[in-house]
Amino acid sequence: MRFSWGYVLVLPSVLGEKLTIPAVDSAVRSQLSSFSQYADSNGRVGQEAALTAAAEAAAASTVAPSDPDSAALTGHILEQRQAVGSYWYETIAHQGISAFNANRANYKVYRNVKDYGAKGDGKTDDTAAIQRAISDGNRCAPGACLSSSTTNAVVYFPGGTYLLSSSIVSYYATNLIGNPDNMPVLKATNGFNGFGVIDGAQYQPGGVLPYGPTNIFWRQVRNFVIDLTAIPAAVEATGIHWPTAQATSLQNIIFKMSSDSGTKHQGLFIEAGSGGIMNDLVFYGGLNGAVFGNQQFTVRNLTFYNAVTAIYQIWDWGWTYKSISVNNCTVGLDMASRDPSNEAVGSVTFFDSSFTNTKIAFNISRNAITQPSSGGSLAIENVSLKNVALAIQHGPSRLPILAGTTGSTTIASWVSGRVYNPTGPNVVTGAITPPARPASLVAKGRFYERSKPSYATLPSTSFSSIRAGGARGDGVTDDTAALQKVITAAAAAGRVVYFDAGTYKVTRTLLIPAKSRIVGEGYAVIMSSGAFFANINAPQVVVQVGNPGDVGVVEWSDMIVSTQGAQAGAILIRWNLASAAESPSGMWDVHTRIGGTTGSNLSYANCAAAPKSTLVNSACISGYTSLHVAKSASGLYMENVWLWVADHDVDDAALRQITVYAGRGLLIESTAGTIWLVGTSSEHHVRYQYQFSNTQNIFAGQIQTETPYYQPNPGSRQPFPLNAAIDDPNFDFLCPKATAPGTCAEAWGLRVSASRNVLIYGAGFYSFFNNYTTSCSDKGAGALCQQGMVQYDAANTKGFWMYGLNTVGAVGMVYRDTTKMVDYSQNVNVYPSTIMVFNSNS
Ligand SMILES: *[C@@H]1O[C@H](CO)[C@@H](O)[C@H](O)[C@H]1NC(C)=O
Ligand SMILES: *[C@@H]1O[C@H](CO)[C@@H](O)[C@H](O)[C@H]1NC(C)=O
Ligand SMILES: *[C@@H]1O[C@H](CO)[C@@H](O)[C@H](O)[C@H]1NC(C)=O
Ligand SMILES: *[C@@H]1O[C@H](CO)[C@@H](O)[C@H](O)[C@H]1NC(C)=O
Ligand SMILES: *[C@@H]1O[C@H](CO)[C@@H](O)[C@H](O)[C@H]1NC(C)=O
Ligand SMILES: *[C@@H]1O[C@H](CO)[C@@H](O)[C@H](O)[C@H]1NC(C)=O
Repeated sequence: MRFSWGYVLVLPSVLGEKLTIPAVDSAVRSQLSSFSQYADSNGRVGQEAALTAAAEAAAASTVAPSDPDSAALTGHILEQRQAVGSYWYETIAHQGISAFNANRANYKVYRNVKDYGAKGDGKTDDTAAIQRAISDGNRCAPGACLSSSTTNAVVYFPGGTYLLSSSIVSYYATNLIGNPDNMPVLKATNGFNGFGVIDGAQYQPGGVLPYGPTNIFWRQVRNFVIDLTAIPAAVEATGIHWPTAQATSLQNIIFKMSSDSGTKHQGLFIEAGSGGIMNDLVFYGGLNGAVFGNQQFTVRNLTFYNAVTAIYQIWDWGWTYKSISVNNCTVGLDMASRDPSNEAVGSVTFFDSSFTNTKIAFNISRNAITQPSSGGSLAIENVSLKNVALAIQHGPSRLPILAGTTGSTTIASWVSGRVYNPTGPNVVTGAITPPARPASLVAKGRFYERSKPSYATLPSTSFSSIRAGGARGDGVTDDTAALQKVITAAAAAGRVVYFDAGTYKVTRTLLIPAKSRIVGEGYAVIMSSGAFFANINAPQVVVQVGNPGDVGVVEWSDMIVSTQGAQAGAILIRWNLASAAESPSGMWDVHTRIGGTTGSNLSYANCAAAPKSTLVNSACISGYTSLHVAKSASGLYMENVWLWVADHDVDDAALRQITVYAGRGLLIESTAGTIWLVGTSSEHHVRYQYQFSNTQNIFAGQIQTETPYYQPNPGSRQPFPLNAAIDDPNFDFLCPKATAPGTCAEAWGLRVSASRNVLIYGAGFYSFFNNYTTSCSDKGAGALCQQGMVQYDAANTKGFWMYGLNTVGAVGMVYRDTTKMVDYSQNVNVYPSTIMVFNSNS
């Protein structure tokens, strides 16, 4: 496989779709190669390398941590929340099922670790019991299985202290959830042996990561304290090992590590994948709070105390950091390449954050002779410093790039990278004028953010179970009427709708009215089916939030909306509801998924990829639009939303590729706008992945896309007829003849049309495949195939701004109407091409 790591991490040769880490530069490759060299039976894989590099970083620093401002720290002393009664999810009836599991009658989605013998008493070694809870029921174990959509599980931890002598090894599609009212402590023993108290992807013999890290979807870890402090400081120890991809999250986790001199603890370690989001994490102590290497990620609300290095960025293509607080550390973000002739980090966008009592806020290696020349790019916006000796250090020379302060100051803006205004490239190192922030998007001076609600203060009697209300969730029964009844009644009564795990088939539109609060278990699925959604010329909505003109708030989390079979007219979600900017509606971990799973009737057996054919299989046209934010909608916060048209069969033993056609990804037409997209992605839709049309006031970062792997066979004009009423792009300027096949018509990653104040903080738009071959994206091969990735209109779009734009496989990074404004060739980076700022200047 040309996109494997070669001698580094050999991924399964069946890896069909998502790339592993292509062509990483030699610096990171040599660093990563030592990860696999350290693969051995005691599980201490990978950390050796990271720790060695980081230990060098620490040793190289001549500076001791500065005196802490104890007043600033006292408010943040680690405290466990007092138990306030029982968490609703612990006490509610557990009736969730996995509809398409081969052994549905016996398969348990919900597993309480105490039911498997865990004690949580701080004395008993609970490792084996917790592992039994995870593995029960013939699940998708690392090394034994590549992925699965039929064995999802929620492993629940009541409050308590769980003593662990080795790793909790998580499996595919597993949510590990603690009681948020009384956060369980996962306490490593003094002699702990394993790579990660939680190992999200346990290395297999030969140093191979299981599953394929870019295929690890649908999993969460939340509400835990991970305590490494019983492990001697000088012993390497890791809180969570987390190479993952889309629709994954870490949330509300406290990492406790030694801050003794010479500590070798690290909280979080990621070396591969295609994320994803992490938020609400607190790190105490450690050599590295977090070590991050992954194509892209959105990371929000992370707080570090007393680490040597808060964040060590080993490689990336693009990364979005928001609301990061670094306190009493030596280095804040260390993104400097260890090989001075080769950048390993592509780019970082970092904003709304603070550094306090820290020696060096940013350690970077980029300078005038950096290779590749756009490597190591950085954009900083609204970052405050308090007693920080050096704001930015040039790592290789140890020379200051930007001075710090003994008092307080704010970096309003600082950029190192390529800037287009909208022409360029201008190679900038220093301050620029940052984009004006629309007031409606901002709260307390920062872009608004809000974490997924846990409803921890509500008793289980405040929840209406959808199965208790008569829905079956078996993937066969038509549940439309039963679901609607529960949803309507709950909204009227102020109750929370609880979607027990299951696949709920619907044959008509479901309405979620204002005041609804809906939470799923283990990604409960609403699946459209039947003739109602099958007409490509008369699309119908599967889940509609509000009627046009409705005002109010809806909260929705932890679910998937999907389709079964030919559904060419299905608009999976339409949002009509208007909410105030100060109290927006929200979607958290709500994903759409079209095809590639058992029961979808859009599997390998139905829709195998057929590059040699030019015929469109109408049985595999499913999904008109994945998510439509309609004209009347406003005030909508989305976090961790992945709109996925499957490119491979998740349940096929070889993950073979499939061709499924869905028309459009995320369409925002909201007139009043005020939309936040935090850690969202949209993949493999025919005409575009994101389109903002006649809207305004959008905050988005990081957004990530992939072009369909079959395109341009056929191209973007097939099979969905052009719909001018929703401003479909016609691609006429790229394909003058309506019938032209050729390579010209491929889906836009992002199209902005007649919109105002569209602010993108990090984007990764990838065209890895053309007609199922990778020759067009292989770095260095020359002939990129996709013409353009981003397009906006000059006449009516105002205030369009992008930080950290990374593209793969496309010649034109940005088009203004029909004019190419940014060409990839001037901006080649570690693997993608990167520009740090695009400013429409209009
Ligand atoms: C900063 O980066 C350089 C590599 O450029 C590295 O050698 C050094 O250890 C890093 N950290 C500090 C504190 O200088
Ligand atoms: C940030 O994370 C902390 C710790 O989990 C949490 O208490 C706080 O509410 C979060 N803040 C925001 C704005 O999400
Ligand atoms: C600051 O960090 C150092 C370790 O780097 C630690 O020894 C010291 O106690 C910390 N100060 C406070 C107030 O936590
Ligand atoms: C930057 O963030 C701070 C909060 O950390 C806020 O008070 C300030 O207004 C923000 N500045 C800008 C320019 O957004
Ligand atoms: C599944 O697909 C087959 C043909 O591939 C078709 O005959 C059948 O009706 C489909 N079933 C559903 C529920 O879409
Ligand atoms: C797509 O690739 C196949 C080989 O896998 C080739 O036979 C076919 O002609 C290609 N189609 C187009 C339209 O390029």
